[in-house]
Amino acid sequence: MEKAHIYITRKIPEVMLQPFQSAFSFRMWEKEDEPVPREILLEEVRNADAVMCVLSEKIDEEFFLAAPKVKIVANMAVGYDNMDIQAAKRHNVILTNTPDVLTETTADLGFSLLMAVARRIVEANQFIKKNQWKNWSPLLLAGTDIHHKTIGIVGMGRIGEAIARRAKGFNMDIVYHNRSRNKEAEERLQAIWLPFEQLIQEADFVVSVIPLTDETYHLFDELAFKKMKDSAIFINISRGAVVDEGALVNALESNQIRAAGLDVFEKEPIASNHPLMNLENVVCLPHIGSATKETREKMMALCLENIDSVLRNQGPKTPI
Ligand code: DGY
Repeated sequence: MEKAHIYITRKIPEVMLQPFQSAFSFRMWEKEDEPVPREILLEEVRNADAVMCVLSEKIDEEFFLAAPKVKIVANMAVGYDNMDIQAAKRHNVILTNTPDVLTETTADLGFSLLMAVARRIVEANQFIKKNQWKNWSPLLLAGTDIHHKTIGIVGMGRIGEAIARRAKGFNMDIVYHNRSRNKEAEERLQAIWLPFEQLIQEADFVVSVIPLTDETYHLFDELAFKKMKDSAIFINISRGAVVDEGALVNALESNQIRAAGLDVFEKEPIASNHPLMNLENVVCLPHIGSATKETREKMMALCLENIDSVLRNQGPKTPI
């Protein structure tokens, strides 16, 4: 019998495929750091029974029409704004993502970014490397305290909670906003639910962990930044498009807020001449929230396990 065929849209280590080699045939895009061109993707998926993709691929109506045999598309990310869920339903295709395995890693990065911005770590590193350090001085690269401040978490899901646990260790007060209240976080972490408007006014650190949906697109707009404290630090580790970047640049340039730490951008990769890159009070990272070797391997493995399970008619492990 012919083996089921799986297409992988980005190069991953061959060793990850080994446990599945006897059951399936694989093809994958040859580059690790470049997305597969759309026309090649659409050609490759023609005979695929399953696809493992990353967030640069749009899994939409056009994709499903080009992939008539596909039973499952496994997204190597917890976020799935790159996938059209209604189109998948119409075509009877199962979608999966990679929750849980990346929670702690992404929270580590989010909290590191918060700390880096508050304590001006990137600026300080550049300061020495550019040979600008002449003497100790009382306010040299003075940042702002983290401990005993208020962290406002917008999106108290798994990653939001993991950030709140870290914040607890720094004796921070935790406020959060979700559409529905997270009673467990309230009990375990003494987190207080606030309406969005109130949270952005009260928090010293506003941390966006909210998924991108039609409702959250440009949630952080001109008005939102105006309402924040002028000492506020804004951190975004969810999706770039929850922020109106033009409004963020204005807010930073006009000192409406103090600083920002961004792991995600409206358009990725962001251009190195983007106005955000000229601002000293911004720390930018190339969407590396879950990027540790251990976690990325777990994400790859989970995608393949989902595919394996669906192709064996046992249902997905982590359906969307
Ligand atoms: C996710 O999982 O959604 C991240 O953004 C990529 O790891």
